[in-house]
Amino acid sequence: MSCPDDKPTIALRKIIHDQAPMRFFDYMALCLYHPEHGYYAQEPQQVGRAGDFFTSVSSGPLFGILLAESIAQWWKQSNITGSWRIIEPGANQAALAIDVLTHLRNHYPQAYADLCYVALDPLPVPNGFQKQALTPFGDHAVARQSLDGLDARPTFVIANEVLDAFPCHLIEKTDAGWQEVWIESTAPDAPLQEVLQPTDLTLPDELSEPSIPMGYRTEVRPAPQAFFRSLRDVISRGRLLFFDYGFAAPEYYAIDRTRGTLQLYRQHRASEDALAEPGSRDITAHVDFTAIFHCVDALGMKVTTFAPQEFFLTKLVPSLLSQGLWQDSWQNNFQTLVHPAHLGGKFHAFECSVGESTEHDATALQRLAIAPV
Ligand SMILES: C[S@@+](CC[C@H](N)C(=O)[O-])C[C@H]1O[C@@H](n2cnc3c(N)ncnc32)[C@H](O)[C@@H]1O
Repeated sequence: MSCPDDKPTIALRKIIHDQAPMRFFDYMALCLYHPEHGYYAQEPQQVGRAGDFFTSVSSGPLFGILLAESIAQWWKQSNITGSWRIIEPGANQAALAIDVLTHLRNHYPQAYADLCYVALDPLPVPNGFQKQALTPFGDHAVARQSLDGLDARPTFVIANEVLDAFPCHLIEKTDAGWQEVWIESTAPDAPLQEVLQPTDLTLPDELSEPSIPMGYRTEVRPAPQAFFRSLRDVISRGRLLFFDYGFAAPEYYAIDRTRGTLQLYRQHRASEDALAEPGSRDITAHVDFTAIFHCVDALGMKVTTFAPQEFFLTKLVPSLLSQGLWQDSWQNNFQTLVHPAHLGGKFHAFECSVGESTEHDATALQRLAIAPV
């Protein structure tokens, strides 16, 4: 029996069949970002209680309020005068944008006066949704599908759970060496199948460890160089702050993590079967933050923070307390964000700077397993 949710799956199965065999990377890209049938090409209803998974943003307004405090501190310390931007890739339902803008408008009117918030999503339907949701903020917020044509300005970039939604390759250790997962389709309505093929990917050093057992499966994500370069090119000076599931490379590729981190979500149920219902479920894999370090380092950015979300967010609370802005009704929201058993331990904050006189932070380098540079 077919239900409305099956529509993207049926359409995508045909497209996948026409293009197969294909690398898992291309399969994941189609499932998530096909412009018509991809999971993220639809009206953004994926996040929250009625959707498929929770995020720090959907847990309540406190995440955005704390990020607004962090942004306001940077704005003050950097003596920003004149127009400046916040850019948010992956703004989804624009909930984070609304929380950040509201807090800045209410409590930092000077910063708000010169601010333009850019919600960035390459897909037209979510972008249209964001445009609509942000109309109450007038000229202080826009929604764009790309950064093309923007000049370079002081900018603070924030993004939650975006890097983990970038497509990745799936690889497995076999008697014939590391091989890559490809997807095959014998008919548009037949179950999709995996096949292993020799790989030409450059693999992380950790995977040359001889004690990694046969059958070990994991993910490798190409460096998102173009994504970071497009951000860097519109920043005269500023910060980029990413929150995501993930670890430094030695923990990501730990010997006992034999099945990697790939997960699918639908209606708050997790599964590891990436071939079922293409386009109808979120596909995500954790972030190798050591690889992200190498990517931003190559672009001349400096890492200022790499810390568990619990540490990063907790440090921002005194700023709210000292201004008398803390509300007791945020207590549950706070616990969800910082408790190690909830989101506090699973997520990391990764921040880097552009055009500022900073060096790489020594603690961040240590946590990222990078020797001092
Ligand atoms: C897991 S969702 C983000 C959830 C949201 N930030 C939150 O915290 O509730 C990932 C989003 O990233 C967006 N995305 C993927 N690639 C992107 C890119 N290159 N630039 C901007 N957004 C992107 C997707 O369209 C999708 O909406």
